[in-house]
Amino acid sequence: MYTTITIDGTSGAGKSSIAKTLSSCYRIPCLNSGAMFRMIAYTATSHFPTKHYTELSIEHIIDIIQSARFTLLYEDDMSTLLCNDTPLPREIYTEGIAEITSHIASYSEVRKHMRVIQRSLASNTHLIAEGRDMGTVVFPHASVKIFLTAELEERAKRRFEELQRECPDITYSQVIRQLMERDKKDTVRTQSPLKPAQDALLLDTTNRSVHDVLHVIQEYIKRKEPRLREEDTR
Ligand code: DC
Repeated sequence: MYTTITIDGTSGAGKSSIAKTLSSCYRIPCLNSGAMFRMIAYTATSHFPTKHYTELSIEHIIDIIQSARFTLLYEDDMSTLLCNDTPLPREIYTEGIAEITSHIASYSEVRKHMRVIQRSLASNTHLIAEGRDMGTVVFPHASVKIFLTAELEERAKRRFEELQRECPDITYSQVIRQLMERDKKDTVRTQSPLKPAQDALLLDTTNRSVHDVLHVIQEYIKRKEPRLREEDTR
């Protein structure tokens, strides 16, 4: 039996940093499900650059999902997600793609197809799965579930610092507005809305270092999955 650890939460709450660090600590792959959705949005819009994203048909998006072969590697102490044998491009992380991603991720058909792929990636390995609905819908039987939040201002500050490197013109107030819009879309949608699983450990990361949050999670994993430490931490 393989162990799945789920990490869900709002944008900018620190999910990716925590998932990546846990991945190298336990030497198991981590799946960034947001990156999978972003890759589908990126591919859909690059096929039709002139169309507004709200005009993209569901059939077109499903076709793209069906021709995307996602694989997860864990090599040289690093977890890498590939789509059709290629690492995902950096362009998927722009705010423009984030907005389109949030839109397409609200379709139940899209989520249904993505769920099948996400589950298949967990079928033959221990896995750390990061996203919005990993603990509630995709892996409801995961033995360790974490839900991360942080105050809006702190999340916006972290995101602003990240984005400034690539978009020097972006302002802090734009980032706040984008985060609020995305939080709202992800939380109020009827399909797999962002919410903690009933059995998740809730952690507010505001004013806490990654190191501090990690320590709490590792102690929790030790209690819930002692086997994982013995078998996978060297
Ligand atoms: O985690 P992220 O910011 O890269 O996610 C991008 C978008 O994808 C975000 O609007 C939420 C959506 N998403 C989702 O609906 N379900 C997931 N499991 C992961 C991400």
